[in-house]
Amino acid sequence: MMRRTRATAAASAAAVLLLLTGAPAGAALTPPDPYFPLSGNQRYDVRHYDLDLDFTPASHLLDARATVTASADRSLATFRLDYSGPAVQQVLVDGRPAAYRSDGQKLTVTPARPIRPGALFTVVVRYRGTPERISDPALGDYGWINTPDGAVALNEPDGARTWYPLNDDLRDKATYTFRITTPTGVTALANGEPAGPPQTHDGRTTVTWQMRKPMAGYLSMVAIGDFQVARTTDDGLPNITAYDPNGSDDTLLHPATAQAVAWERKRFGAYPFDSTGGIIDEVGVGYALESQSRPVYDRGPDELTVVHEIAHQWFGDSVTPSTWRDIWLNEGFATYTEWLWQEDHGGPSVQQVFDTYYETPAGDPFWNLETGDPGRDEMFNFDAVYVRGAMTLHALRTTIGDRDFFDLLRTWAHTYRYGTADTGDLLRLAEKLSHHRLGPLFDDWLYTAAKPPLPPH
Ligand code: ARG
Ligand code: ZN
Repeated sequence: MMRRTRATAAASAAAVLLLLTGAPAGAALTPPDPYFPLSGNQRYDVRHYDLDLDFTPASHLLDARATVTASADRSLATFRLDYSGPAVQQVLVDGRPAAYRSDGQKLTVTPARPIRPGALFTVVVRYRGTPERISDPALGDYGWINTPDGAVALNEPDGARTWYPLNDDLRDKATYTFRITTPTGVTALANGEPAGPPQTHDGRTTVTWQMRKPMAGYLSMVAIGDFQVARTTDDGLPNITAYDPNGSDDTLLHPATAQAVAWERKRFGAYPFDSTGGIIDEVGVGYALESQSRPVYDRGPDELTVVHEIAHQWFGDSVTPSTWRDIWLNEGFATYTEWLWQEDHGGPSVQQVFDTYYETPAGDPFWNLETGDPGRDEMFNFDAVYVRGAMTLHALRTTIGDRDFFDLLRTWAHTYRYGTADTGDLLRLAEKLSHHRLGPLFDDWLYTAAKPPLPPH
């Protein structure tokens, strides 16, 4: 019998829940996110967000209309969206005014009449004011960040609610349209691709961007301000990058993005989105973010940072963890990609990098947290999540061998493309492909706050 791991125990708990409730996966009664229990609303499923954003950099005033199209899992007399942005002025459900109440980080909507189970419905929310960032003592600054010449939205983990109402549940991905209006001359970018040429009326210009592949809220992005934009098409994929010319000049981002995509496509399989790119805006948050199809860098990045954010397009953006507890599935994979890329470009070998970290003595705080459950405040802990996440993958690779390991990376990216998956799914897939029992290895490397033994090889 297979040893019961934390991962398999969680999977069978979900199976028991399914038996007890008869509810299909993704419907009501799945537990809330363990790190962000206030985020997410489970009685409906969003299909599309249409975000009409009118923004004036000089005043930082946002005048917005968000249209959320969703299907109801059950009859809804009232429902909630995640929202803590500027004051709401009006809410319409299927075109009729609805009652609403804003409190904390939720917008509660009561439609004139209940929404029928299975019905597709639209919610229009109008709001106006200056959105503000979240400054979290543990996670730093994120959400809508106003800049001297505009704004940029960096939402990970739960910052999207600072600028639009959404179902901020990793499992409820949706497509997006961004219609951004600014004074003419200001540049506005978002995820995905431009849809049609800009429209100018009365000194204001509207640009439309579309993300046609499902996207989790934390990966949505807009960047507004003075930007120098570059566009090319490389191997059939549009590459759109931008940097703020008032900051330092950047010549690396555009070609490095194309190179990272080309190199990673060969290793991980088809690139999941319809365009790539990147945006540099010197916002001083101290991190880059893998916003879907177009990461944001808070300074001119080095090559490895670009390789990391582009790796997230497969690992994090296309295949997204089901809950934030599994953040190592994002950061461990992206960090391991840096190690692979380095080795292939004249740097130290992956084994050397692993060995150097592995020399860290058993009593060192480096080993203090569980990589597979670091805790909400330590979700971006570099040692526990990024480095030990990558080390976990290397331990797995030395156990199952190169052929099965690289097959696993590609099969993982393909099997869970545009969806969500958890560590239990990775364990099951790795065991299936390699015919190894891997529960003990996962337990040692992910669910033990201590230096794990080296895997035999
Ligand atoms: N996911 C980002 C990366 O690629 C880090 C985001 C950090 N976010 C934050 N709120 N501190 O490493
Ligand atoms: Zn990362």
